Amino acid sequence: MPIVWFVVSMLGCARHAPHVERLPDAAVPVPAVPEGADAVLERGARLYRTASCVGCHSPPFDDATHLGGGRDLPTIFGVFYAPNISPDAENGIGTWTEADFVRAMRDGRAPDGRRYWPTFPYMAYTKMTDDDLHALWVYLEAQPAVATPSRPHEIRAPYGMPGMLGLWRSLAFRRGALEENAEQSGDWNRGRYLVEAVSYCDQCHTPRSALGLVKRRHYLAGGANPAKADVHPNLTSHPDAGIGAWSGADIVRYLQTAQKPDGTTSDAKDIMAEKVHDSFSHHTPADLHAIAVYLGAQPADAFDPEAWGLVKRRRRKLARQDDRDPEDADR
Ligand code: HEC
Ligand code: HEC
Repeated sequence: MPIVWFVVSMLGCARHAPHVERLPDAAVPVPAVPEGADAVLERGARLYRTASCVGCHSPPFDDATHLGGGRDLPTIFGVFYAPNISPDAENGIGTWTEADFVRAMRDGRAPDGRRYWPTFPYMAYTKMTDDDLHALWVYLEAQPAVATPSRPHEIRAPYGMPGMLGLWRSLAFRRGALEENAEQSGDWNRGRYLVEAVSYCDQCHTPRSALGLVKRRHYLAGGANPAKADVHPNLTSHPDAGIGAWSGADIVRYLQTAQKPDGTTSDAKDIMAEKVHDSFSHHTPADLHAIAVYLGAQPADAFDPEAWGLVKRRRRKLARQDDRDPEDADR
């Protein structure tokens, strides 16, 4: 059973998918940063965007950053719904303590001990600093309660089996904040933190083994969303296979605008363009610079995700499905 699909297929959301369903609109739209916000609140508001929470917990087709949940996240394992994480006591996390929140982010467990599905990318957020988790909590707490009930996931058999999550966690989940690498510069360390703990670029841009484990040997050398057979390009400094020909300024511009140095722009319907718009362009210029420094320091790797057997097989399968049932082609 390819657990690999289980993990990767859901890190992107599907705003553009034709069957995205909207939950009922929440009553209260929330400004990105309330007026007179203090530094911690502002930091939390920025993280809510740069760590992509907005992409899943705020409804599609809507830039308002309220927390009523909303995305349906169709995967080959079923459909997941990002829950309401507003301070509503009944429908959201209004009864939670800060310790409950930190446990969810750091351990991937609910207050009652339930393990979360990795559609909630806590394998990245576990690496965040205590300060950043605190800032996110302050931000969430400061938002108006939204009374939209969360929807139960619709998980296809046999993936709902209780053992599945435990298996995945024992193989792939390593709990704990990132440690500084004293041999590297401040920019490099900051860049790695943003790439791994906050914006989880590595989760999409690294290939995985059949068991769903990130292949460290090809770190950042390209990945795929097998559910849709989308390829995530190689980001190492290889001049042809990767982005070695891009300058630091090219990387920064791309993360702000989705424009590439060759004059093309990522398709607005593409997950990366959506993330640039909703999330990555909200990094500070200093942080974008740090990401560029960190990517520039990745050794050249000629790995080509387009040539990946897994992707090719999945494309053939989707093409066959397409012939049978055009309606279902985007899943
Ligand atoms: C790719 C989509 C995605 C992203 C990005 C994401 N989440 Fe979630 N989140 C989910 C899903 C799906 C669940 C439900 C997981 C489950 O039920 O096992 C969830 C669950 C949660 C929960 C637990 C809620 C509960 O009622 O138990 C919290 C808290 C949470 N997310 C906060 C965040 C924060 C904060 C961020 C950004 C730092 C974030 N999430 C980013 C999809 C996402
Ligand atoms: C949800 C999955 C996902 C995440 C997370 C993600 N990317 Fe991407 N990225 C993609 C996809 C898909 C493409 C292909 C789109 C295209 O090339 O137009 C892409 C394209 C790119 C490109 C263009 C490369 C080229 O050769 O054209 C760069 C650079 C990039 N991503 C950097 C990043 C960085 C840096 C991060 C983290 C801040 C990141 N990505 C996070 C999915 C992702």
